[in-house]
Amino acid sequence: MPEEIMLEARDIAVLFNQSKGFARIFGGARRSDSALHALDGVSLSLRRGESLALVGESGSGKSTFANVLVGRLAPAAGQVHFEGEHIGAERSISHRRRIQMVFQDPYSSLNPRMTVRRAIGELLRVHRIVPPSEIDAELVRLVNLVGLDEEVLDAYPGQFSGGQRQRLAIARALAVRPDILVADEPVSALDVSVQATVLNLISELQRELGLSVLFIGHNLSVVRSLCQRVAVMYLGRIVEVADVDEIFDNPKHPYTRALIASIPRMHRTIEREPAIQGDPPSPINLPVGCRFQSRCPLVQDRCRAEDPALRLVSATPTAGGEFEDHLSACHYAEELV
Ligand SMILES: Nc1ncnc2c1ncn2[C@@H]1O[C@H](COP(=O)(O)OP(=O)(O)OP(=O)(O)O)[C@@H](O)[C@H]1O
Ligand SMILES: [Mg+2]
Repeated sequence: MPEEIMLEARDIAVLFNQSKGFARIFGGARRSDSALHALDGVSLSLRRGESLALVGESGSGKSTFANVLVGRLAPAAGQVHFEGEHIGAERSISHRRRIQMVFQDPYSSLNPRMTVRRAIGELLRVHRIVPPSEIDAELVRLVNLVGLDEEVLDAYPGQFSGGQRQRLAIARALAVRPDILVADEPVSALDVSVQATVLNLISELQRELGLSVLFIGHNLSVVRSLCQRVAVMYLGRIVEVADVDEIFDNPKHPYTRALIASIPRMHRTIEREPAIQGDPPSPINLPVGCRFQSRCPLVQDRCRAEDPALRLVSATPTAGGEFEDHLSACHYAEELV
């Protein structure tokens, strides 16, 4: 039986208008000349109860994609479907409730002028999560759920450490009992010593509550223990999607291989190419052909002429005994061994 898709992005494009002034000064540059292509034809599905990682280097479009999914940004093209229903950027209160986001900087989701009790209590009231008489008990349950004591309820966000604040941001997101959590680099701003505990917390909650989680990160090594599937983003495109073990053992895109090669040796499973060199091209001035051509150690003439589409390259058995599609956007995916 096919797994149920909770959230599906279809062909999402996002353009940011850059330096309109410049275009005017240098005379005649068309509007499209200065558009920054943050996302270009991105399709990705999140299944019920799964933990899916989205990885890629800085500027590849991960946060832009997260913002489209949660309705904070309207795409120039493409659609978001929730349980099969098209939902625009103008979301109903129910859709807003059911898709929650955790940000890199926990301050973005916590009001510094409100105690935790007031801020999260307000959400419980507005969304009628529990009857008013049960709000206090629910608040205690929520902070305990993220590993904090009930004393935190009467403190302000500024009184906490980064790790505690991120736990509170997670409690806040979970307060409204979402189905989906989009976690955009939830530990990048935290001390290395607390990163693992917060990641494990998200992972435990995902399993206990049956949440569908899109976990966004830079670092491929941390997602290995957290996620079942991985999608790799490069310059506004998804370039590879596969089961997590398959991604590490049998990557089918040179960019993914470079990401894996850049992981410290202890965690490496393949050692073929050196870590990725150079910078990506500008998203304002994209090359003809493959976007990875300028950094690809295996580039061929075809890569400079034809833009490779994301396509099915194999279906591989997973730890759960199912078969998982392996998608790659490399002309020569089958030749990567
Ligand atoms: N509001 C904006 N206006 C103009 N350009 C933007 C805006 N937001 C993002 N961009 C550009 O869009 C591209 C994608 O940015 P985005 O923040 O989505 O990347 P990211 O993968 O989340 O990067 P990071 O890992 O650094 O968080 C980048 O080139 C960025 O400079
Ligand atoms: Mg980001």
